[in-house]
Amino acid sequence: MVERKTTYPIDEQFTSRWSPRAMTGEELDDKQLLALFEAARWAPSSYNNQPWRFLYAKRNTKQWDDLFGLMVEFNQSWAKDASALVVVVSKKTFDFNGQPCVTHSFDTGAAWMSLALQATKQGLVTHGMQGFDYDKAKKVLAIGRQGKKEDLPKELQEKEELSDRKPLAEIAWEGGFK
Ligand SMILES: Cc1cc2nc3c(=O)[nH]c(=O)nc-3n(C[C@H](O)[C@H](O)[C@H](O)COP(=O)(O)O)c2cc1C
Repeated sequence: MVERKTTYPIDEQFTSRWSPRAMTGEELDDKQLLALFEAARWAPSSYNNQPWRFLYAKRNTKQWDDLFGLMVEFNQSWAKDASALVVVVSKKTFDFNGQPCVTHSFDTGAAWMSLALQATKQGLVTHGMQGFDYDKAKKVLAIGRQGKKEDLPKELQEKEELSDRKPLAEIAWEGGFK
């Protein structure tokens, strides 16, 4: 298992958030689920436009089948044990003048991260997914209670570990583009 070592000391919430695939398949009550969107709601955005939209489906509902059907087979193989699936949509224009908002996906990215960190605080796990039908949806996300690695198929067990990051000097430096 990778030990997450930071270059500088940071709050533990950033390194304890990760994307496991083993989930328990338990249901989540609305209080737990809606608190995640509440956290996302407070993200900053250009002109406070709040371009994020979260379309969710709880397991054992008709909506679940609709969202589940969007995913590629690989993602379906593990996201079947999630408690909720969420499509994250980003509105491309400003509400106040209808003009394009260049930062809409930046803003929506901030909101999803708030959601993911809140989930960690609540003892839940989240796993972003780009493997889905883009004609039908923009982003799909699985939320659940973390399960046992041993319950995953063998090939997924090998992937079920904390990932590392690029060195700090590769992602932040003084001055313009190198
Ligand atoms: C927008 C986005 C799309 C992703 N798409 C997939 C996916 O389709 N399938 C998958 O298994 N993991 C997917 N991931 C998970 C990433 O691989 C994972 O976040 C990354 O390796 C870093 O690992 P960590 O989240 O555990 O720190 C996605 C993550 C994000 C943020």
